[in-house]
Order: sequence, then C-alpha cells, then structure tokens
Amino acid sequence: MDQVPHKQKTALITGAAGGLGVYTASDRVSTSSVHNPEAYGYLGRAIAEQFLLEGANVVVCDINQELIADFKDKVSAAYPECTLVLKTDITDEAALDSMFEEAEKTFGKIDYVVNSAGMMDRFDPAGELERAMWDRVIALNLTAPTMVTKRAVNLMLKHEAKGSIVNIASVAAFRGFCSGAAYTGLTKNTAVFYGPKGIRCNAIMAGGMQTNIFKPFMETGINMEGMAIMQKTFPQDGFAYIELEKVAKLVTYLCGDSGSIVNGACWTADGGVTAN
Ligand SMILES: NC(=O)c1ccc[n+]([C@@H]2O[C@H](COP(=O)([O-])OP(=O)(O)OC[C@H]3O[C@@H](n4cnc5c(N)ncnc54)[C@H](O)[C@@H]3O)[C@@H](O)[C@H]2O)c1
Repeated sequence: MDQVPHKQKTALITGAAGGLGVYTASDRVSTSSVHNPEAYGYLGRAIAEQFLLEGANVVVCDINQELIADFKDKVSAAYPECTLVLKTDITDEAALDSMFEEAEKTFGKIDYVVNSAGMMDRFDPAGELERAMWDRVIALNLTAPTMVTKRAVNLMLKHEAKGSIVNIASVAAFRGFCSGAAYTGLTKNTAVFYGPKGIRCNAIMAGGMQTNIFKPFMETGINMEGMAIMQKTFPQDGFAYIELEKVAKLVTYLCGDSGSIVNGACWTADGGVTAN
C-alpha cells in the first residue's frame, strides 16, 4: 500500500491550528459522557497531521494566535518545507483572498480543501434564538465555508487540479439542531456543479468528538432544554466519542484516489449512534 498517497498534493484546512495534542490512545474513545479535560484535542490539527503523514503539503489557517504559535512549534518544525500557517479569520473576505494568494504563491496550487473551522450553537429552539448568535453561527458554519469553496473551486479549475473538498458537518443536522445542517446543501451543490469538472465534494457527518468546541459555552451557558433533548438521542448504554485520528483518516481517504467514486455524499461517522 502506498504510504504517501498524497505526495505532491496540497491540502488547505480551516481551523487547523488547534490541538493541544495531549490526548493519549486510551483517551481517544471514551464510553462516558463525562468530559476529560486532559483528553481534549482538535479535529483540524489531526487532519493536517494526517495529510502530512501521507505526504501532502498543508496550508493551515486559524484565527487563534496562541494555537498558531503552538502548531508552528510542534508541527511545522518537523515539516518546515510542507507547512504554511496563516492567521486568517475565514469570515473576512479580504483575509480569504490573501490566504488563497499566499497558498498559490507557496505551493503553486491547491488540490484539497477541508472546511473544519466551525462552532456549536447553544441548542436553542427557534422561539428563543438570539439574532446575534444566529448570525455568528451562520457566518462561520455556512457563509465562510461557502466563500472558501468559491475560491477553492476557481483555483482548482485554473490549475486543472483533480480537486476534492470535504466539509466537516455534524450528525446534529439529522437531529433538529441548526449547527451544521446547511453544510449538506453546500456539499451537494458543489458536487453537482463541479463533479463533471473533476472536483468532488463530500461531507462527513461527525458524531461527538472530544475537542474544545464546548469551551465558549462554559461562559455563556447552554440551553438546558435543548441539551436534554439532544441527550435523549444518545444510546442508553452510554455515549462514545469518535476518535479524531479516524475522522482525519476518513478525510484523507475521501480526498485520494480510493475515494474517487464518492461525490455529493453526506457520510455518517458516529459509530452508529444515529442508526437507531
Ligand atoms: N466536537 C464535536 O463533537 C463535533 C461534532 C460534529 C461536528 N463537529 C464539527 O467539527 C468541526 C471542528 O470542530 P472542533 O470540534 O474541532 O471545534 P474546536 O472549537 O475545538 O476547533 C475549531 C477551530 O476553528 C478555529 N476557528 C474558529 N473560528 C474561526 C475563524 N473565524 N476563522 C478561522 N478559524 C477559526 C478555532 O480557533 C479552532 O482551532 C466544526 O465544524 C464542528 O462543527 C464537531
């Protein structure tokens, strides 16, 4: 089996600097719903590291300066020629333009894009939604990946790249929570229009992962009625987190030749939680 199937490819991953890298193999799957703060990791970074292991260059963008410094220290140092790390707010159009220009200048083209930066909503029902929260969720979880996709497909077409875009969505979309739901429309739209031109687009409907996504709500709180409804969807024998490393491998699989027959799919990766 080819150990470096993505050699000479370049992957751009949003929200990818994050990652304290402190989780251990035994922490990766927890059957308890209790969060272990020592076990937190970041999906975006796990994806970037997987691409590097498989031979690709990575363009890593993130809004968080502290995490960027940590990524440069722990990951870029080991792959100096293969990483471009940019502080970018993906909700800022001008910042997106500079990011794509810089990526093209550095690596010549982009073959893959992974829209991973995102946030959780507060599990609010429509009648209690705050406009400001709605606007933040839509700006980061829908408008930004759409604008990233717009630039990505145009750059891929310019260089005649056999491109692949993976959107990290959530099984929450199947369960009546707004965060992530709109990704499915973006995924299928991109797949239908650009598939015939050599660019595939798929979504991974991820289950619960031990990341820092809950952090902002430690201060603002969460809608407890919504939380209770969500918890009812968990299996009675306990909630299993899915492993970041395996989601990362699914992403690189979908991007490569092995995934070439998959286009427009919303691929559930939740260990079977939503199957019943
Ligand atoms: N954690 C889960 O249980 C879960 C489940 C299903 C889907 N997801 C999805 O997975 C994706 C990754 O989430 P995560 O759990 O790693 O979250 P996270 O909060 O741990 O990481 C998100 C990363 O995105 C960055 N980011 C935030 N806003 C940004 C912006 N405007 N511009 C650039 N970067 C920005 C953050 O700094 C951080 O590094 C999200 O799209 C999320 O909806 C997460």
